[in-house]
Amino acid sequence: MKLCHVGIRRLLIVGVFVTVIVVLQCCWTTYYSVLHADGSSVAFPVELSISGTSEEEGVGVFRSRANNVTFASHSKDYASKKEADLDRELDSDGGGIILNNFKVGNHEDAVYSFTQKIPKYADLSKSDMLLAVENPSNTSRIQSVEMEPQLLKSHLSMLNSKHKKGNLSTRSRLVWPTSIAHMNSLLLQSSNSASVRPKWSSRRDRELFAAKLEIENARVISNFPGLYAPIFRDVSKFSRSYELMERKLKVFIYREGAKPIFHQPKMRGIYASEGWFMKLMEGNKRFIARDPQKAHLFYLPFSSKMLRVALSNRKKMEQYLEKYVELIAGRYRFWNRTGGADHFLVACHDWASHITRQPMKDSIRCLCNSNVAKGFQIGKDTTLPVTYIHSMMDPLRGFAGKPPSERSILAFFAGSMHGYLRPILLKHWENEEADMKIIGPMSRDLEGKKMYMKYMNSSKYCVCARGYEVHTPRIIEAIFSECVPVIISDNYVPPLFEILKWEAFSVFVREKDIPSLKNILLSIPEEKYLALHLGVKKVQQHFLWHKVPVKYDLFHMILHAIWNNRLYHIRPR
Ligand SMILES: *[C@@H]1O[C@H](CO)[C@@H](O)[C@H](O)[C@H]1NC(C)=O
Ligand SMILES: *[C@@H]1O[C@H](CO)[C@@H](O)[C@H](O)[C@H]1NC(C)=O
Ligand SMILES: *[C@@H]1O[C@H](CO)[C@@H](O)[C@H](O)[C@H]1NC(C)=O
Ligand SMILES: *[C@@H]1O[C@H](CO)[C@@H](O)[C@H](O)[C@H]1NC(C)=O
Ligand SMILES: *[C@@H]1O[C@H](CO)[C@@H](O)[C@H](O)[C@H]1NC(C)=O
Repeated sequence: MKLCHVGIRRLLIVGVFVTVIVVLQCCWTTYYSVLHADGSSVAFPVELSISGTSEEEGVGVFRSRANNVTFASHSKDYASKKEADLDRELDSDGGGIILNNFKVGNHEDAVYSFTQKIPKYADLSKSDMLLAVENPSNTSRIQSVEMEPQLLKSHLSMLNSKHKKGNLSTRSRLVWPTSIAHMNSLLLQSSNSASVRPKWSSRRDRELFAAKLEIENARVISNFPGLYAPIFRDVSKFSRSYELMERKLKVFIYREGAKPIFHQPKMRGIYASEGWFMKLMEGNKRFIARDPQKAHLFYLPFSSKMLRVALSNRKKMEQYLEKYVELIAGRYRFWNRTGGADHFLVACHDWASHITRQPMKDSIRCLCNSNVAKGFQIGKDTTLPVTYIHSMMDPLRGFAGKPPSERSILAFFAGSMHGYLRPILLKHWENEEADMKIIGPMSRDLEGKKMYMKYMNSSKYCVCARGYEVHTPRIIEAIFSECVPVIISDNYVPPLFEILKWEAFSVFVREKDIPSLKNILLSIPEEKYLALHLGVKKVQQHFLWHKVPVKYDLFHMILHAIWNNRLYHIRPR
């Protein structure tokens, strides 16, 4: 009997082993994975980026064997080194009115760098486990293969035990296009997980915890003055949460930090949203606590844009922030209590996500560049919308919407060829169909701007394709033009994601589905389109800045998102 048992067990083990080997053999030529360099963990799903000199990344650099990459770089890393610096505000991504011709470099023999930590792979559901593999024999083609998570996991751990860092001939890339549905499930998971236990308890945490319970038990109500229920995930909870925030939340703003990097908001340009938040926060009466003992949250009031202006590279910027954290951690007790978990920053520069991921890794980071495949943590971090402010006096200048019946163009896109995706978009759709206005850069003079507005004004859908990075000001521009945004930017977490039901006023198209863009849009019934259009109109108020903030406006919504994410992870000690 015993012998028999042992026999069966052995058989089982051998069986599993053989299966794994067979699978490996099958996949070997096409799939490779990588070791995470700064640790032992597996960096999966891995996202690669082309990089000219990615040593600075220090994460593990691999040289590919002469194969052409057609669909790589999810990162601006390389671009930043190649003079295409988004800091020159106007050539960044300014609503497509841009002339800068950025050349995508020669990708042959490119150096790959593997970017950093990603939410745990085991969290992925099967349908989202998408392994995109480049077929070496045909570089213009990407195959997508769905695999069982379990299978992948063993597959990867095998690969990792075999391959040591720095020695891989990478011929395929693993990318991780996160669908909106998958992001929703990540959010759900995050909202149920508490953060690290604070070193000592605080009365403020207990207040937050009480608020959290109140919100969870919010009565379901049917009348919400000023709110349009269909665009919210749960309008009852939101309205309760907002109300409690107004009544209870106190924020302490560190006075440390010198101008212009700290305390000097910049109110215009592509990165304006960090400036607006800073200005309105520092000038706020309702939420500010003069006494840090009374604060639930602590604001680190720096401008990533100004930091970029002051310092030449990311390493220095990161070190600067490290020093700052040391300073406030030494001078006050609050940072050390939670490791920064009740601290937050609001930063819009493309590099902000990179330079804060170490020094402020446990803090709530409100970032424009919210790439879930590059360390943005759904439920902890929150997305800052890119609100491109042209005129401080009148943020809505030039925007106006025609009714749906007068929108004759099906889809519109115009813009520079930033990043890898837009050339693909144009390749498929430029001048293809009369009702698809998919064009490259438009002239930047007044005439060009007018045209741009006119197209947004008379299109049903506005394509918001990622540039160098996942975020783009087009989304907000589309919303203000009452044009339904079509977001093509895998792994981008849209703004106010924790609260808003983005599917109610926008369309998400996966990057790989660009060839079927038109069919996807045509398959949306008119009724649904009208609902989306209405949703767009109703969501506008939540993306508007006001010099004196008003209820439910962007300032309050961002602050609420931060409050919300702190509540997710609060626990009584
Ligand atoms: C890569 O692309 C270049 C031109 O874009 C081409 O000359 C070369 O043969 C390609 N290499 C491979 C391995 O396909
Ligand atoms: C690569 O695939 C594309 C699309 O399937 C096809 O049109 C093209 O001819 C292929 N190229 C080669 C070199 O096989
Ligand atoms: C990588 O592995 C190959 C064989 O698998 C070996 O020839 C080569 O020397 C290794 N390179 C390094 C840097 O370890
Ligand atoms: C917080 O921790 C840091 C590093 O451990 C230490 O240098 C600092 O003195 C601590 N701060 C306070 C106020 O004790
Ligand atoms: C957009 O449409 C509105 C409403 O029809 C109109 O008032 C406005 O002038 C239009 N703007 C442009 C730039 O065409």
